[in-house]
Amino acid sequence: MTAAAPLAKPNPNAPTEETVLEVEHFTDRLFRFTITRPPSFRFRTGEFIMIGLPKTEDQRKPIMRAYSVASPAWDDKLEFYSIKVENGPLTSRLQAIEPGDTVLLGKKPVGTLVLDALLPGKRLWMFSTGTGFAPFASLVRDPETYERYDEVIVTHTCREAGELTYSTRLIEDLINDPLVGEMVEGKLKLITSLTREDHPLEGRITTLIESGELFKAAGTPPLNPEHDRVMICGSMDMINDTKALVETFGLEEGANSDPKQFVVEKSFVG
Ligand code: A2P
Repeated sequence: MTAAAPLAKPNPNAPTEETVLEVEHFTDRLFRFTITRPPSFRFRTGEFIMIGLPKTEDQRKPIMRAYSVASPAWDDKLEFYSIKVENGPLTSRLQAIEPGDTVLLGKKPVGTLVLDALLPGKRLWMFSTGTGFAPFASLVRDPETYERYDEVIVTHTCREAGELTYSTRLIEDLINDPLVGEMVEGKLKLITSLTREDHPLEGRITTLIESGELFKAAGTPPLNPEHDRVMICGSMDMINDTKALVETFGLEEGANSDPKQFVVEKSFVG
């Protein structure tokens, strides 16, 4: 008698297969998409998750990349905001997805851009560049953000005007949102700036902080560790430079286990 080959145990951490619901392209560098959300998938607003595509014949395993969830925690679909990199191992293929296609979704959301990593305060700043706006798209749609802070100021800096479409439209539409519509009135402000095209406010976020132009545009005093809390999301260089500046105002970096005055996260590309 021959023993039956042992069955491979299902991996409890293996990604789930989700269906693409919508895809919207903004520029030749940026797009957003939504996918189905398994009922068991829980995350904290501001966290990121691994996303991938089913492996092709020549791949040993699927390529997965970290993506901030852009949708709020109460939504029954999941939204992501992505860059398109021509030769990017994942985004070169991901940019071609269409409704009905399969996307792989990791099981363990994590991240530091969460409200619990910050001490209470008066004003919450969210500094973003490029796809770094994604976690803030989730946070501005969460009622808790407005329950914790009197004022919420989001900044989004991009190279060109077309790259501001997603953030500008999302924030403009929030006034009609049944959940947070009334909360955002008079509390939420979006400040946009461009670095490679004409715009009412021009320059990198770091330049605008240093010159004080940001605070003039926001109608606030400069950052103050007693009242201001900051979240930063962008490229590695943007994070390092912005973090160093924020620290000059006396704010300290917090974590989930040790909430303080600011937190940072890289916006992931690939
Ligand atoms: P710039 O046009 O001067 O490079 P990207 O699309 O390359 O991620 O850039 C998004 C935005 O972030 C651009 O406006 C870019 O400005 C800006 N940026 C790039 N590097 C930094 C940095 N080190 N600090 C602040 N902003 C940055």
